[in-house]
Amino acid sequence: MAETTTGSGQPKGFRSAELGWPELDRIPHPPYRLPLLGDVLGASRRTPLQDSLKYARTLGPIFRRNAFGKEFVFTWGAGLVADLADESRFAKHVGLGVANLRPVAGDGLFTAYNHEPNWQLAHDVLAPGFSREAMAGYHSMMLAVAERLTEHWDRAAAAGRTVDVPGDMTKLTLETIARTGFGHDFGSFERPRPHPFVTAMVGTLTYAQRLNSVPAPLTPLLLRRASRRNAADIAHLNRIVDEVVRSRRAEGGGDGDLLDRMLETAHPDTGERLSPENVRRQVITFLVAGHETTSGALSFALHYLAQHPEVAARARAEVDRVWDGTAAPGYEQVAKLRYVRRVLDESLRLWPTAPAFAREAREDTVLAGEHPMRRGAWTLVLTPMLHRDPAVWGADAERFDPDRFDARAVRSRPPHTFKPFGTGARACIGRQFALHEATLVLGLLLRRYALRPDPGYRLRVTERLTLMPEGLRLRPERRTPTPPGAPSLRAEPADPASC
Ligand code: HEM
Repeated sequence: MAETTTGSGQPKGFRSAELGWPELDRIPHPPYRLPLLGDVLGASRRTPLQDSLKYARTLGPIFRRNAFGKEFVFTWGAGLVADLADESRFAKHVGLGVANLRPVAGDGLFTAYNHEPNWQLAHDVLAPGFSREAMAGYHSMMLAVAERLTEHWDRAAAAGRTVDVPGDMTKLTLETIARTGFGHDFGSFERPRPHPFVTAMVGTLTYAQRLNSVPAPLTPLLLRRASRRNAADIAHLNRIVDEVVRSRRAEGGGDGDLLDRMLETAHPDTGERLSPENVRRQVITFLVAGHETTSGALSFALHYLAQHPEVAARARAEVDRVWDGTAAPGYEQVAKLRYVRRVLDESLRLWPTAPAFAREAREDTVLAGEHPMRRGAWTLVLTPMLHRDPAVWGADAERFDPDRFDARAVRSRPPHTFKPFGTGARACIGRQFALHEATLVLGLLLRRYALRPDPGYRLRVTERLTLMPEGLRLRPERRTPTPPGAPSLRAEPADPASC
């Protein structure tokens, strides 16, 4: 199963940019490049993404970095990214961090190479699990999990305590995907510490990121202990997942959730089924991909709401008006929270929690008419910079402003300028799931609490392939109900699909 690295320690199939970009010299790189080591001066092993954002600001819409002989091209200019979204010439590239996850997720949906037959098979079998009908079926389970969160926050509010926002959002989103997708309860809210699944997952994600910042030939030496720990983390994840599958088989089936689809559904055309090994890969993939990024998105949104009381007040007024005292909002009532959704979109613009995706040329081509690429050459799209391109978002692109996502503003922007869920055939299968869950939870929290920030908190972003606001704590205060007849906001006009 360990198939991801070559003898040199590079991810299998790794292609350094010199091989694929005939005019690489025209692409700028940071100053002070060191022989053998590359662009390592001032680089941080813990924040490679934020380092790249720094370089992007000085080097422009396409640039390259070299780390220990590995040369990478980064792209973020809106015109270049729009060209990379052309599915006839470009496709997903499984490289860098994603390839480093192959030992744990193998040919699961997220980490599968485009040519692997299990991608299409799993995609076709699992896509109906994200249909509108399926989503409506998950809604009441999402509500039930959110209630466990509010019970927890009610206790903190009553005691005047702060809450650990990323920690609690991780509990919430893990329980939600586990419950809706796999009929499983990790008991996260009843534990004083994160569930061992989360600890092992954070370990493997952090290790996958670290692999990129160590000279490939020295990996066995420098990361010996970390790699042993990583092997233990992977074994742990496998054990947990095997247990989830075993108990489902023992029960003789669930209520038609994702796990049932994985275990029982045959491909509608070919009759093929997922193999037991592939099921294991998919369960890990969905448990991880299905909660880590949504947890970050919710955490960033709560940070911005706490920092912008006027935005929180407007969002809260919308919730009060649209939900109008309904104790348990229905499925249809979530999409009606248009301003809350804009808050979420704007948070995902500034901090898309899966902050990069890689694209490779299907054939020899010229990127945006300027940069020749050979077949297989690839580039990493830096989504947070795409989302800050001043040509699209204006000179104040760093400013948090949910009105950037009102219907007219969305229509006025060119396509492919907002890409938190990736692009094309390999874009996020769980997008609607994440948006529904996060909008619902933000609505519930806004309705119930005033969110008091810690006045001394300055946003720090931690990286483990995904992004999360580090050390974010808020003090929730139970709201007094809005008096009858209090002014409410006008209805927000409908937004077109904004991403
Ligand atoms: C805010 C939350 C989320 C964000 C920002 C996000 C982001 C992304 C991105 C950028 C990709 C494409 C990666 C690439 O091109 O390499 C992706 C793929 C994927 N996501 Fe999400 N995701 C989120 C939530 C979810 C959820 C809730 C699920 C499952 C329930 C999920 C499952 C997946 C899977 C399985 C893929 C691989 C799809 C394929 O290649 O066919 N994601 N996601």
